[in-house]
Amino acid sequence: MNASLRRRLFSWLSTSILLASVLAGVLSFALSYEDANDLQDAQLRQVAAVLSNSALAHMPLKFQPQNNEDAETHFVIKRLGSAPPDPGALFDLTLSETLRPGLQSIEQSGVRWRAIVAQNSVGERFAVAQRVTVRDEVARDAALQTLVPVVLLIPVLLLIIHLVLRQAFAPLAAMSADIDRLDGSRLAAVDERHVLLEVLPLVQAVNRLMRRLALVLEQQRRLVSDAAHELRTPVAALIVQADNVQHVRLPLEARARMSSLRQGLDRMSSLIDQLLNYARVQGAAPSITQRLELSTLVRSAIEEILPMAQAKGVDLGCVRIDPAVIHGDPLHAYALVRNVVDNAVRYTPSGGAVDVSVSVEDGDACFVVEDTGPGIDAADMDRVFEPFVRVLGSQESGSGLGLAIARTAARVLGGHIDVGQRSDRRSGLRFTYRQVSAAEASASFGAA
Ligand SMILES: Nc1ncnc2c1ncn2[C@@H]1O[C@H](COP(=O)(O)OP(=O)(O)O)[C@@H](O)[C@H]1O
Ligand SMILES: [Mg+2]
Repeated sequence: MNASLRRRLFSWLSTSILLASVLAGVLSFALSYEDANDLQDAQLRQVAAVLSNSALAHMPLKFQPQNNEDAETHFVIKRLGSAPPDPGALFDLTLSETLRPGLQSIEQSGVRWRAIVAQNSVGERFAVAQRVTVRDEVARDAALQTLVPVVLLIPVLLLIIHLVLRQAFAPLAAMSADIDRLDGSRLAAVDERHVLLEVLPLVQAVNRLMRRLALVLEQQRRLVSDAAHELRTPVAALIVQADNVQHVRLPLEARARMSSLRQGLDRMSSLIDQLLNYARVQGAAPSITQRLELSTLVRSAIEEILPMAQAKGVDLGCVRIDPAVIHGDPLHAYALVRNVVDNAVRYTPSGGAVDVSVSVEDGDACFVVEDTGPGIDAADMDRVFEPFVRVLGSQESGSGLGLAIARTAARVLGGHIDVGQRSDRRSGLRFTYRQVSAAEASASFGAA
């Protein structure tokens, strides 16, 4: 599986953040634990200092706890030596006379104490003590509180990293979509102006590859076009000669053979014409854009094909011809219209009908051809647009280039082809070509 740079960056960054947070947490816990202990030592010192100002006899050494917690946490203040044990105390302490003055840790019957030993103004020695477990608990609570911001910060940082990475990688996804939109008919380069600096070398390499590909494609197209051109003249000469021979008195069998030879030459001639058309629509510069009246082009194509329709007994007509203006190269637009109407008439059996219409719908110029022929199987639908692909079964001759020409022309014109069932659900094919109408486009440009 391909590694994802974004996922990798996320895991690196989040691991670093987690490690740094753990380190920061441990450090701040240790420091504030230490601080809390120092603070409690200072408290002991302050209590001892206050007590040393007066005699112990004047002071209520017995502490009255307000609640359970107070009873556990209170300071124990005791005279050194033979002070009687405090029966009300939860924890009591007997202090020896020999204790040195100052802060110290004491352990007595399994309980650890932190105590300060001092002397008051009348010379009495006493100690202020606190249980170490209580002190530790207070210190731990204080230290734990310093961890709260660190713990809260982790998910926030992870979310920020996720959002930042998504934002940073969005241009890459957009660029892939741009490259996906490029197709063989138009190898336009990827726009390098707004590409991120880090991705620029990759885009430049893609663009160089596109230029090489465009060169190879152009060479191929020219080869096809030149070959078709070269073949055109000798085939035309052969047709003239075959016609001449047909005028000569010939035996019946030779005449029949001559006639099929003549048909073969016609097929070859139309294949050469289609090859030339295919090379032309592939190579014509898309920059040639004129205002084209789609209805005029459709009328010319119908006029051209009408003799074939009449000869076959197919009713070719227009159900609706509205004015619809498009922008584009007339060569492309005519090649598209002619090949589609030609197919409809060609594949519709005698007695059938072909209806052509031109209209403007939702700002799109629409050219629709519906026939009553056999239609195209869904399984063949994509295939038939490939060059030289023909669906076997009909007696019609053809080159298999008609729909390939129509598709290439549609791409260059910037329109959209849709092939499917007839709108009235009768058997037959419905071919639709939609392109933003030039009239609408210029109206919206004007308004902008
Ligand atoms: N209107 C149509 N009705 C039925 N089949 C069609 C129609 N138009 C195209 N086809 C099918 O699509 C195939 C490809 O069409 P095309 O590229 O024009 O090549 P050609 O017409 O030279 O065979 C045809 O062989 C035919 O089987
Ligand atoms: Mg055809």
